[in-house]
Amino acid sequence: MSAEYSSPLPGGHDSVATLPRHVAIIMDGNGRWATRRRSPRFAGHRAGVNAVREVVQVCVEKRIEVLTLFAFSSENWRRPAEEVGLLMNLFMSALQSEMRKLHENDIRLRVIGERSAFSAELQTRIEQAERLMAANSGLNLFIAANYGGRWDITRAARTLAKKAVLGELAADDIDEHALAQEIALDAMPEPDLFIRTGGEKRISNFLLWQLAYTELFFTDALWPDFDRQAFEGALTSYATRQRRYGRTGEQVATAER
Ligand code: IPE
Ligand code: IPE
Ligand code: MG
Repeated sequence: MSAEYSSPLPGGHDSVATLPRHVAIIMDGNGRWATRRRSPRFAGHRAGVNAVREVVQVCVEKRIEVLTLFAFSSENWRRPAEEVGLLMNLFMSALQSEMRKLHENDIRLRVIGERSAFSAELQTRIEQAERLMAANSGLNLFIAANYGGRWDITRAARTLAKKAVLGELAADDIDEHALAQEIALDAMPEPDLFIRTGGEKRISNFLLWQLAYTELFFTDALWPDFDRQAFEGALTSYATRQRRYGRTGEQVATAER
C-alpha cells in the first residue's frame, strides 16, 4: 500500500464512525404534530422547544462538539404572517428563557443566517446571548435562523469578489479552501451526521456546501417526538457507516488497521 493511502482521511478523524463531532438537524414536523392533536400549528413549534432541550442535553453529555439546528429557513417567510410572527416571538422567548441554562452548561450559542431581517429587539437579544456565551468552551450550538444554503454560498462568493476587487486576493486563488473560509461554520469540523425529522427526504436549502460528505439520516418521527432514544438511534446508525470520501471500502479498511 502506498504512503498516499495511509494518511488520515479528510476531516481529521477516523473513518470508523463512532460519535459524530458535528450533528446538523432539520427540525421538521411541528405543524403536523400539532394538527394530529387538533391543536394550532404553533402548539407544535412550542412543543419543539422541549425536543431542542433534550437533544442539546444529550450532546452535552456525550461531549459532541457541534450541534447545528435549522430553526427558520430563508423560505419560511412564505408562511402565513401569523405563523411567522408567532415563530419570531417563540425565538425571542426561548432565547430569553434558555440563555442562562445554556451558559451554565458552558455552551457557546451562535446564530447563523441573515439576521438583518429580524426586529431590532430580536437582533439585540441574539447579540446579548452570543456575547454572554462567547468565551464558553463546551458544545458549539448554532441556530440557523433566516438561513439558506444558497444565501450562505452567495454571501461567501460576494466576500471573495470584494477582496479580489480590492486586490487582496487574486481571482485564481479562489479555491475550495478560500470559499470554505468565508462560509458559515467555517471554523468548525464539517457536519458528520445530518438528521431530518418529519419524514421528508430533502435538504430544503440547509447547509448545501457543508453537507458534501455528511452521513444522512431521515426519520418519520415528528420533531416534538424526537427524544433521547430517537437521537441515540440516529447516533447508532451513524456508528455503522463507513465513510469513504471517494476511496474504496477496501482502502479505508486497510488504512484503519
Ligand atoms: C418545522 O416544522 C419548523 C419550521 C419550519 C419553523 P414545520 O412547521 O415545517 O412542520 P410541518 O412540516 O408543517 O409538519
Ligand atoms: C425546513 O423545513 C426548515 C426548517 C425546519 C427550519 P420546511 O418545513 O420549511 O421544509 P419544506 O418546505 O417542507 O421543504
Ligand atoms: Mg415542515
